[in-house]
Amino acid sequence: MQSNRNSQIGEQLTRTNAMVNIEKMKVNEKKKQILKALRDYGDYLSGETLSEQLGISRVSIWKHIRSLKEDGYAIDASARGYRLVSSPDLMLPYEFPGLEERIYYFSEIGSTMDEARKLARKGAKEGTIVIAEVQADGRGRLNREWLSPKGGIYFTIILRPMISPVYAPRINLMVSIIVAATIRKLFGIKAGLKWPNDVLIEGRKVCGILAEMNAEMDVVNFVNVGIGINANTSIPQFEKTATSLKDALGREISRKEFLRVLLREIEGWQPLLMKEELLQEWRGFSMTLNRDVKVIAPGEVIVGRAIDIDATGALIIKRSDGSLKKAMAGDCIHLREEAPNADTGAFNPRDSV
Ligand code: BTN
Repeated sequence: MQSNRNSQIGEQLTRTNAMVNIEKMKVNEKKKQILKALRDYGDYLSGETLSEQLGISRVSIWKHIRSLKEDGYAIDASARGYRLVSSPDLMLPYEFPGLEERIYYFSEIGSTMDEARKLARKGAKEGTIVIAEVQADGRGRLNREWLSPKGGIYFTIILRPMISPVYAPRINLMVSIIVAATIRKLFGIKAGLKWPNDVLIEGRKVCGILAEMNAEMDVVNFVNVGIGINANTSIPQFEKTATSLKDALGREISRKEFLRVLLREIEGWQPLLMKEELLQEWRGFSMTLNRDVKVIAPGEVIVGRAIDIDATGALIIKRSDGSLKKAMAGDCIHLREEAPNADTGAFNPRDSV
């Protein structure tokens, strides 16, 4: 959630940070296998069977079980063996089967963007993900702070698209569509999009997206896409421009389930990145089009009616004198009433993804 550095929540966040353990979790292959075996079996599995399946001693099994318990997994041990009772409400790599090796998990970090940049520069593969439970120095667009207390979802994914740098903003469009579609699909809430890439619920921001690109003249080396979602955080009453999934639904959500779906969708959508369909989808979710807007762009302020986006993701604005102007980047303020397609209640076809 965006805020001034000195806000009340900012102070709360600093206090919470002092209690959080800063660590990067390394995925342990044996722990991963034990969890898989316990999940697949669903009942008490003897230490002997586990030891045979994994090819390690029963003492090693016991040590790994102890370590999993320290991570927050509730594992019951009895004469019959071990049984997984519950998994912690954390976005641990073990909660994303098949992606464990690509995930860099932190209980707390400064910003996932910084870590992702380091990894990308060192050659980390497409699809590498940095996840944090808490960020002490979360960053938003336009040099704003992104408050990142416990309960939110904060991650950066490294992408290496084979596109010209001018089309990189399409990645933001893609990710914002995926977040809005996933909110609609999982929770039945009508999330929509504000240009360039805010996800809104009832006009309030629930998710922000920040992309950092490293490119040469005509080739993209990497685009790191940082996504911050107000999931199980409570937004103070006085805050009129932000909301959270918890506040919108009146209950907490499973962050790992939500993130699992998001990560799967991001992978599945890549082939659509340069297709016209992407722009069509964005138009379907847009709460900006057909609306009077003020865009505070670098070096200028553009006021007029938002009529479309172009292939590079720029917003096309019709000014009162009839002239057209494109905004490539900036802060967009919605003026006056809702866009016609913002409140129809109709779900987008991509809801079925
Ligand atoms: C915005 O201003 O709307 C963009 C906010 C992006 C926040 C996310 S949280 C994960 C990643 N790490 C950061 O420091 N920022 C992004």
